[in-house]
Amino acid sequence: MTPINPLFDSFPERRGTCSAKWDGMAEGVIPMQVADMDFRSPQCVIDALKARADHGMFGYSFAGDAFFEAACGWQARVHGCTGNKEEILPAAGVITGLQWAMKALTPEGGCVILLPSYPPFMSVPENLSKPLHPVTMPNQNGRWELPLEALERELSREDVNAFILCNPHNPTGRIWTREELCSMLSLCKKHGVTVYSDEIHGDIILPGEEFVSVLSLPEELAGEAVVLNAPSKTFNLPGLQTSCMIVRNPAQRKKIAELMGRNHVPGPDIMGFAAATAAYTGGEEWLREMVRYVAGNLDVMADFFARELPEISFIRPQATYLAWLDCRKTGLSCKELHEKFLSAGVSLGVGTNFGETAGEGFMRLTAACPRALLTEALRRMKKALHG
Ligand SMILES: Cc1ncc(COP(=O)(O)O)c(C=O)c1O
Repeated sequence: MTPINPLFDSFPERRGTCSAKWDGMAEGVIPMQVADMDFRSPQCVIDALKARADHGMFGYSFAGDAFFEAACGWQARVHGCTGNKEEILPAAGVITGLQWAMKALTPEGGCVILLPSYPPFMSVPENLSKPLHPVTMPNQNGRWELPLEALERELSREDVNAFILCNPHNPTGRIWTREELCSMLSLCKKHGVTVYSDEIHGDIILPGEEFVSVLSLPEELAGEAVVLNAPSKTFNLPGLQTSCMIVRNPAQRKKIAELMGRNHVPGPDIMGFAAATAAYTGGEEWLREMVRYVAGNLDVMADFFARELPEISFIRPQATYLAWLDCRKTGLSCKELHEKFLSAGVSLGVGTNFGETAGEGFMRLTAACPRALLTEALRRMKKALHG
């Protein structure tokens, strides 16, 4: 018998805790749609938050040296990226950072994204009235490909000045190679397009895979990119809303900081900084274990679909704990799939939210939960389709 994994095989009740994932779903339904993990955060984070709370003083604060040193130390140790603390602008969440960076640097003009796409990459430019120029990633020979020619066509449009890169890519879990990143950034440089690289999933790299951060690319390609990362996906802290914008170009950094300052944009709070500092300092071993556990969950899923539900398949993600399920062989639309799954007691991310055409027939499953819960969710999916 497999021994109980004390870190990941169970978690405290989340219903009744204002959990967007659990309390946002009807009683009895297993929520697999929201990208947060049903794992407790590393003990070092819990201890740091307790210590901060025990102090009892919650006055106005700022990001201290310890936070910047921990964030830079993590990038250097885990990703081999050197940088210094002056380059980091803290933000209350990656999407908040993206929004303000985009507003400061490229407030007008078109924006290119890859489809399928994490939904805010469509709504953030749209909210700024920036026309969207989506490029669909083809799925060829069991791999999500980079459509370079189509990408160049969109990047070279007169009005385009922004490209949102998702590295690793949500929802497919694809990691872009160094060559692919260089090609994309070269095209952006050639056409005067600012790159916003969302690397929030960059720490969740499955065994045997290698992540390349835009921060590790040559200065002439990446010197004007805005890189967004956070400890939130990595250590399951999204409720603490703490992220980093890494902006190497001083003029760009000044523009973003001034705009956020003028608009009184709140940054992360003291608890977020305490948690992030602790996680980046002492969370590495927990992360290694977590990634190993998620890889095991992906094995269970692949095996289940192959044997029990062959009309559903997925290309194994290289990163993230997300599985982008190809359900097209069921012949059902996303709407129908969603309804059937819900009535069987399981909720998945609806593919069309990631692109109306590119996502049709796909559903996204968050595989970061105890294996027993995942197995029950899979059983319910089968029941939904086979009765
Ligand atoms: C690619 C990507 N970026 C950003 C976010 C959200 O980040 P935040 O909560 O820090 O705004 C998510 C959450 O799922 C994500 O998948």
